[in-house]
Amino acid sequence: PMKQRLLVVANRLPVSAFRRGEDSWSLEISAGGLVSALLGVKEVDAKWIGWAGVNVPDEVGQRALTKALAEKRCIPVFLDEEIVHQYYNGYCNNILWPLFHYLGLPQEDRLATTRSFQSQFDAYKRANQMFADVVNQHYEDGDVVWCHDYHLMFLPKCLKEYNSKMKVGWFLHTPFPSSEIHRTLPSRSELLRSVLAADLVGFHTYDYARHFVSACTRILGLEGTPEGVEDQGKLTRVAAFPIGIDSDRFKRALELPAVKDHINELTQRFAGRKEKMLSFSCLLLVMLGVDRLDMIKGIPQKILAFEKFLEENPVWRDKVVLLQIAVPTRTDVHEYQKLTSQVHEIVGRINGRFGTLTAVPIIHLDRSLDFQALCALYAVTDVALVTSLRDGMNLVSYEFVACQGAKRGVLILSEFAGAAQSLGAGALLVNPWNITEVANSIAYALNMPADEREKRHRHNYAHVTTHTAQDWAETFVSFESHPPTPFLLLA
Ligand code: UDP
Ligand code: G6P
Repeated sequence: PMKQRLLVVANRLPVSAFRRGEDSWSLEISAGGLVSALLGVKEVDAKWIGWAGVNVPDEVGQRALTKALAEKRCIPVFLDEEIVHQYYNGYCNNILWPLFHYLGLPQEDRLATTRSFQSQFDAYKRANQMFADVVNQHYEDGDVVWCHDYHLMFLPKCLKEYNSKMKVGWFLHTPFPSSEIHRTLPSRSELLRSVLAADLVGFHTYDYARHFVSACTRILGLEGTPEGVEDQGKLTRVAAFPIGIDSDRFKRALELPAVKDHINELTQRFAGRKEKMLSFSCLLLVMLGVDRLDMIKGIPQKILAFEKFLEENPVWRDKVVLLQIAVPTRTDVHEYQKLTSQVHEIVGRINGRFGTLTAVPIIHLDRSLDFQALCALYAVTDVALVTSLRDGMNLVSYEFVACQGAKRGVLILSEFAGAAQSLGAGALLVNPWNITEVANSIAYALNMPADEREKRHRHNYAHVTTHTAQDWAETFVSFESHPPTPFLLLA
């Protein structure tokens, strides 16, 4: 177990706060892969620093929330509405997020974006400085400060300016794109230099690490070495640390009576409905998608592929349902609002086309699920569909595999998710842009014989249960304090 004291800094705290009264707050677990992974890390003396997802303009509220969060070992950074607008909605989620996922800089309204670019970048730097101030207040000698994700690329530099002896690591939960993409970013050099102030920089895959190093060599003219990036004798270590999940937590959940009841209910609903209507027993197979409603997840592409599958396989039409859980996210950003209506339109059209008086082929939910309901769903699923256009890792695919010990369902997985590198042996890999290929994979998955399903499942299950979130964090943090020598970064 890790004894190292850790300050974990991420834009999003593991709990989000909702105001119930002047000085009373309720806390709910936040959604997303970063939070899930970090919650999977046990036995570590960590404090969390981040934003609670809410604007708290008054001192009474701030004091009460600080106290409520302290019980969860969380320390809030208070961001006002204007900075959230410019930093979080603007620079982070309208510029960096799409760019790092190869969706380019905002196309629409290009000139307006260009004009607001500088003020958003300024707000980004100011916000990072606010995180640094809070870290600095809580830092004690010997702490390791672990910064997370694209929101905080400026943080390593701010921290080192406070205290050059601080041990600082930075980990990116998204892809790092090809240097040709990163080049288009107006603030490309400043961001790279700030990240390089860290002692250790980590990515999910070797490709992302390689892209980062080549951005530093091509854009900054620095030297890439097998260990990282060197600038005037100062080395920043760069390496790949693929994340994992706490698979035991999922396995344990499946043993809980409440989850078992839930599984039975779902099984009956999907099987029973049909049995009542038809004189023979006809199982309804369940295909599952679980994504934040984000453009990178390829949700329209997934649904269109499912439509094509239904079109070409009339015998399957009343025997399969696609259940899409679309967790609302970043709802103040225009692109996300557009995506929501686009998805609703496609779902409506397809359900109108293939639905009957008693059933529709797509059940689409715009909401999040609690952990137990999610586990039950993963367990009853026959085929999981992950069609990300780009995705740092994609933990949903890991969670599905962890819950399939009994069923041995099939995972259809985008080759553009980081997880394709670890679960490629067991999953059916697809190019989500190729609707025909995805439709054919759906047919293949639904018809797959039990022995092939068994074999594929075994591959993935072995990986998911042995590469845990705990191992990920331990490797990163021990690497930070005692880098293995010699180690090969980009072998
Ligand atoms: N998740 C959640 N609420 C839900 C459904 C899912 O918090 O209603 C979790 C899910 O269990 C997973 C995470 O959100 O751990 C999504 O992580 P992933 O890496 O797949 O994608 P990200 O959202 O980080 O892009
Ligand atoms: C991704 C990002 C995380 C983020 C999560 C949810 O997983 O890598 O940093 O927390 O999405 O997005 P949100 O904007 O709600 O924090």
